[in-house]
Amino acid sequence: MSANTSLLWRDMTVFDGLREHPEPMAVLTRGDRVERLCPMHALTGADIDGAREAGSHGVVTPGLVDCHTHLVFGGNRAGEFEQRLEGASYAEIAKAGGGILATVRATREASEDALLEAARPRLQALIDDGVTCVEIKSGYGLTVADELKMLRVARRLGERLPVRVVTTLLGAHALPPEYKGASDDYIDLVCNEMIPAAVAEDLADAVDVFCESIAFSVAQCERVFQAARAHGLPIKAHAEQLSNLGGTAMAARYGALSADHIEYLDDEGVAAMQEAGSVAVLLPGAFHTLRETQLPPVGALREARVPIALATDANPGSSPMFMPTLMLNLACTLFRLTPREALAGMTAHGARALRRPELGRLAEGAPADLCVWDVERPAELAYAVQPGRLRQRVINGEVTHDA
Ligand code: NIG
Ligand code: FE
Repeated sequence: MSANTSLLWRDMTVFDGLREHPEPMAVLTRGDRVERLCPMHALTGADIDGAREAGSHGVVTPGLVDCHTHLVFGGNRAGEFEQRLEGASYAEIAKAGGGILATVRATREASEDALLEAARPRLQALIDDGVTCVEIKSGYGLTVADELKMLRVARRLGERLPVRVVTTLLGAHALPPEYKGASDDYIDLVCNEMIPAAVAEDLADAVDVFCESIAFSVAQCERVFQAARAHGLPIKAHAEQLSNLGGTAMAARYGALSADHIEYLDDEGVAAMQEAGSVAVLLPGAFHTLRETQLPPVGALREARVPIALATDANPGSSPMFMPTLMLNLACTLFRLTPREALAGMTAHGARALRRPELGRLAEGAPADLCVWDVERPAELAYAVQPGRLRQRVINGEVTHDA
């Protein structure tokens, strides 16, 4: 693509990341930016000079942003899926050494190349469903070397495939077996060795924790956040997923970009998020997979105007789901989000949860990351679960998918 390549779509229905524009729109990109986004009648001859006609009619959205995934891992946990169907709970399986730790064993055994090849088709599935920016967490290595190995794989995926990858160090995901009975020592390792090593190689864009009775306490997570802050890294948290420990409110005090899952969040937690400007990341795939019944406090979040993002949480245990548009549907059916809220959750608000507010929006001057869908209305993307509707996907002004 030359720096001045210009693409023009006419008579489009535009969802800009926050709302649908009421009239037929023209979308024009030049180089890696959106140059014009205007009603059709406002388009001038000068605007379209030299532009290539890229299509007309259909829906344009920003490229989707999947702000919470665990895409890099070894093995799979289909056996655990069967155990849960026979009545075992996620927490019981974890306490018995399965769950996250089963994936840790398989991930430690795998080479960097093997992890890359295993993750590639999963990431391709997200891309084929419209994702242009994805967050990928570590958290299945739990040694300095294995966590860095996961993060390197995540960075390499971003170099090999046409997608922006944001990485998150999730060293405090589970207590590895060699630290049994010594969880504070493991937190020392995360704070004093893992975070500095990830920073030294520029492998982590943020730091995450799992704050839960089966993982780490609020006090331990706070120590991780202090270390992250000392190294200038933003933080986020898996919190209030299985119980209410107050991890979200503590994370908010550290200016968390987001608190994720949050089914058990209470009013105090919502207020803390509002004050901190944190994003609420809802993960309907995990809710569905774990057959959770406690609903996240969507009404209270709306009332407090806490931005709500949505993500796949793609991982081998709680959310083996690699289809972002399915999450739009699940968020509406399970959490009663409106289709507009769901789409904003996978575009503008997802980007904000990654501290990339320039993404997830269609606006003049914004990066030209967009999707053209073969539907008439944006709401259809949430209404029907139907692969194959992505007509074009553009990243950085380059068409990478053209059906
Ligand atoms: O987002 N909650 C903790 N971590 C992941 C699950 C990881 C796993 O089960 O492998 C989650 O649900
Ligand atoms: Fe997760």
